[in-house]
Amino acid sequence: DVYASGMLADDPPGYPVRYADLERKGKEALSEEAAAYVAGGAGTESTVAENRRAFDDWRIVPRMLRDVAERDLQVDLFGDEIEVPFLLAPLGVLSIVHDEGELAVARAAADRDVPMVLSSASSYTMEEVADELGETPKWFQLYWSADPDIAHSFIDRAESAEYDGIVVTLDTPLLGWRERDIEQGYLPFLDGKGVANYFSDPAFRDRLDVPPEENEGSAVMEFIDIFGDPSLTWDDLAALREETDLPLVVKGVLHPEDAERAVECGADGVIVSNHGGRQVDGAIGALSALPSVVEAVDVPVLFDSGIRGGADVVKAIALGADSVLLGRPYAYGLVIDGEAGVGSVLDDFLADLDLTLALSGHTSFDELDRSMLVDRRGPG
Ligand code: FNR
Repeated sequence: DVYASGMLADDPPGYPVRYADLERKGKEALSEEAAAYVAGGAGTESTVAENRRAFDDWRIVPRMLRDVAERDLQVDLFGDEIEVPFLLAPLGVLSIVHDEGELAVARAAADRDVPMVLSSASSYTMEEVADELGETPKWFQLYWSADPDIAHSFIDRAESAEYDGIVVTLDTPLLGWRERDIEQGYLPFLDGKGVANYFSDPAFRDRLDVPPEENEGSAVMEFIDIFGDPSLTWDDLAALREETDLPLVVKGVLHPEDAERAVECGADGVIVSNHGGRQVDGAIGALSALPSVVEAVDVPVLFDSGIRGGADVVKAIALGADSVLLGRPYAYGLVIDGEAGVGSVLDDFLADLDLTLALSGHTSFDELDRSMLVDRRGPG
């Protein structure tokens, strides 16, 4: 097993192991506005807290003496064997966290066969990140631009760069009411470097009177103006489906009827997520939304928003998720030490989930189902 587990974990001295320490150290190392961007949520941030609380509704009932010496962390996703039961969630504008941004993340992911979902708002171009990922599974997250030419161009580029799938984010046609960001003057760090993937895009450049290199400020304003489209409907999703043969997964679904609708429009998978509590304050905790979505559709269901350790992965998969996505934890690893920091977060996460799988009496994630959990709220 390539993952040093438990007592053998070999984090450099001073690296945080607990999530609370990772978050604290990460925030300390960032400017106030960058820390607000990573940690912040919508409104009072009640949904950020609710995402964590929802995990407490479920408790694992471990089973004993079942020979757990040999374990396999692989999961099947869209017909491919994936080495680990999680992917890296798309996080935009990572240059504000670390100079090497998404390139450092991709290197750490590729070293460990951890699939990565790259944000539209990447600080490096999707072609540069694809080069770093090589054969590691890679998906491109589409922010569905108000300019259809940009959406088409992103999909064409993702196909040419051999991404394995498109994740279209449905919950962000507009940015949420993020009070910390608003107080800081909203994304004061946003510059051309931050959204290089847009600045390199031919369709985006076509919209501008002068190239972004000549007037960075107005190009950034243009990006803010067109990155999302609040007029989109389900018919548009059906049309988008026709545009590519790549697997198409929708991200940000919380209602079972939306999941059904997405599948009717041709989506190959659904990600249950509330964007880490960054969009609708007061929204349902993402884990609370998972069981009804799993019940509603037959396609793969993935999950994010609040995953912090191995037990969270076990609970989400036992509740019917096919895989999960890791978000803020790896961003803090990136702050602390670039590629090595992300690597340490991933190694610890892998060791924790491997141990939790074994100690709950299982040897593969396929074996997990709801019968291994109790609902501590009681029946009914
Ligand atoms: C995000 N998320 C996000 N999602 C997306 O589809 N495109 C994006 O560009 C971003 N950018 C982004 C930046 C930052 C700093 C954060 C924290 C989140 C949402 C992300 O993919 C995922 O849904 C959440 O991060 C899950 O919540 P936790 O587990 O990180 O709290």
